[in-house]
Amino acid sequence: MSIDIAVVPVAGLGTRLLPATKSQPKEMLPVGRKPVAQHVVEELALSGIGRLLFVTGKGKHSIENHFDTDGDLITYLRESGREQALAELDFERQEMEYFYTRQRRQLGLGHAVLCAAPLVGKQPFVVALGDSIIGLNAQSDIVARMTALFETTGADVVVAFEEVPRDEVFRYGIAKPRGSVDDVFDLESLIEKPAVDEAPSNLAVAARYVFNPVIFDKLAETRPGKGGEIQLTDAIQTILSEGGKGLGVRLHPHERRYDIGNFGSYFRAFVDFALADPQFGDGLREHIQALLERP
Ligand code: UTP
Repeated sequence: MSIDIAVVPVAGLGTRLLPATKSQPKEMLPVGRKPVAQHVVEELALSGIGRLLFVTGKGKHSIENHFDTDGDLITYLRESGREQALAELDFERQEMEYFYTRQRRQLGLGHAVLCAAPLVGKQPFVVALGDSIIGLNAQSDIVARMTALFETTGADVVVAFEEVPRDEVFRYGIAKPRGSVDDVFDLESLIEKPAVDEAPSNLAVAARYVFNPVIFDKLAETRPGKGGEIQLTDAIQTILSEGGKGLGVRLHPHERRYDIGNFGSYFRAFVDFALADPQFGDGLREHIQALLERP
């Protein structure tokens, strides 16, 4: 059976987005018309994911509420003839089974993924970060490409990568490819936040992964690293250094990664999605142009 389960960690504190995230999850901030988490779920549905396990934490109830079916709201909109608003709730009925578990202490992304182990069990699975959208309006089949590759090659780990400007590599986990780099390449190792002149490439980890369940064993053995957190990258690195097969998949140029984790990239993501809005995009473009031309 092909991989149809994705783990979506959304338990982080989002401290880089304070005060916006003091009492609401960053994964529920709107980008264009939809919250980040809805873009992520719609992207995963496009890629054939049918079961989705959110790893949530304190203060994240609005994510669960968002994906529930709200019968009262549907009845109200139907009875008041608000057909267009009703259509905006179609995502509630998409074919996706939702599961939730809690990360009781925020011990890092690797720890959040480990919290999924009792529910995922011994099957391969996808990890999609809940604070990153791939492609404008999440029109990306990157996860379908990655799961297909995982299944045909017998890889242990498949990681998505995005090309970033050379002088920004120190912000990311960077790939050290083995051999030449094409849309798919052999992953020799991952270097966390390398210095610009030491980076082996400009391919940055891009928030989507496919794993053999052996990653859970490696995460359980991983000692806390930077900031006392259990890093997913460290467990991937263990698999690679023990001879496991790792592959990288490059995002296509139209599949930009929109990371919502800091204000700079959040603002850019919002502007890109708002400019692409079929109803309000043109008006917004004129507004921005006028602002920029103002002396
Ligand atoms: P980040 O690395 O951006 O961390 O998380 P963060 O804690 O959310 O944010 P800052 O650094 O305080 O601003 C990347 C993804 O991993 C999840 C987050 O919810 C986000 O979707 N995450 C992170 C967890 O689920 N648990 C954690 O302990 C850390």
